[in-house]
Amino acid sequence: MLLSGKKVLLGITGSISAYKAADLCRLLIQAEASVRVIMTEASTSFISPLTLSVLSKNKVEVEFVNDDSTWNNHVELGLWADLFVVAPASATTMAKFVNGICDNLLSATYLSIRCPVLIAPAMDHDMYLHPATADNISVLKGRNHIIVGPEEGELASGLIGKGRLTEPQKIVDRIVDFFNPNQRLKNVHVLITAGPTQEAIDPVRYISNHSSGKMGIAIAEALLKEGANVTLICGPIQLKTHNFIHRINIISAEEMYNACELHFPKAEITIMAAAVADYTSETISSEKMKKKDDDLVIKLKKTRDILAYLGANKKANQILVGFALETNNELEHAKDKLKRKNLDLIVLNSLRNSGAGFAGDTNQITIIDKHNNVEDFPLKSKAEVATDIIERIIELKNA
Ligand code: CTP
Repeated sequence: MLLSGKKVLLGITGSISAYKAADLCRLLIQAEASVRVIMTEASTSFISPLTLSVLSKNKVEVEFVNDDSTWNNHVELGLWADLFVVAPASATTMAKFVNGICDNLLSATYLSIRCPVLIAPAMDHDMYLHPATADNISVLKGRNHIIVGPEEGELASGLIGKGRLTEPQKIVDRIVDFFNPNQRLKNVHVLITAGPTQEAIDPVRYISNHSSGKMGIAIAEALLKEGANVTLICGPIQLKTHNFIHRINIISAEEMYNACELHFPKAEITIMAAAVADYTSETISSEKMKKKDDDLVIKLKKTRDILAYLGANKKANQILVGFALETNNELEHAKDKLKRKNLDLIVLNSLRNSGAGFAGDTNQITIIDKHNNVEDFPLKSKAEVATDIIERIIELKNA
């Protein structure tokens, strides 16, 4: 999703850190990039082409081929890529790039490439400090290549210093930045809740609701596209979420409260899309409750209102968004919740609108802001609704 439609050519060179290229490739695939891999002969001693081929879902190229006398693969690969990522880039490979030496497929592809190049160097500390390497890196920077790292730390040689390959997630973040330079919530911490909660009665039974979590997850994914740092506190639902979302699974309203309390202070934006149970069983039987002749009475106690707690503890720089699912006097109830819970925005769903609500893939919302501006939206897919909500939040943030 973050990199869908983007073609990344990953070049791997001979460095002990070549094993990390497997993780890099996996993360790129998870971000929905198309990945093709070129390895130098030397790198195949550190990691097998088969591993990269399975992860990239493509054949890995190590040698020149000339199948049909028209294309050499270095030319074809060079034309295919939107970004050429060389990670890890050894001192030798960078020296070859600087001097235009093309004695293997990877260095030949570098000369053929038409797209931008990102280089993540990795080598021992002294090799990195050598003036030859420093000169090479400055030439590569001068060619407008993106240089990522290396990092300080413990090196395979046992030395401590600069030379470690930048962690794959950080390299991917840089790649995402490259393809999405205009993200409006770059590095903004956002907390979002989604799904129902389950309130146990005994080991096999619980009280819950029909929330599917689809709306909250659509918002979390749209936030990710805008570059936000997303923490999702999620009730029990079947849906998977993007690997780049920090997901915390909870079961009960109390667990959701505890997780929100912990993560709220550093969230610049918080969106409570979860359908939190308003009541929970006063006691939870440790054994399965047996059927009796008379009716069963379960005493319920109120759960804590998480949104109201967050509203009461909100700082001036925090934006708080709530949801209201109503069946009657919708606008009036939503406005009341907005005020009572000290919110900046409230998203109203009416169950009277067909196509709106829990399980489906569409929703029809009204957004009310703290100045009582009311905006009605038509029936849309939950992904489009998520975008509408985020647009309003960004407007509020920039106001
Ligand atoms: N909410 C919450 N904690 C609860 C109950 C609800 O944080 N214990 C949040 C929901 O995530 C949602 C908003 O409050 O963002 C509105 O929930 P709703 O149940 O509709 O509101 P209530 O204030 O509980 O009002 P009522 O039951 O009277 O409709």
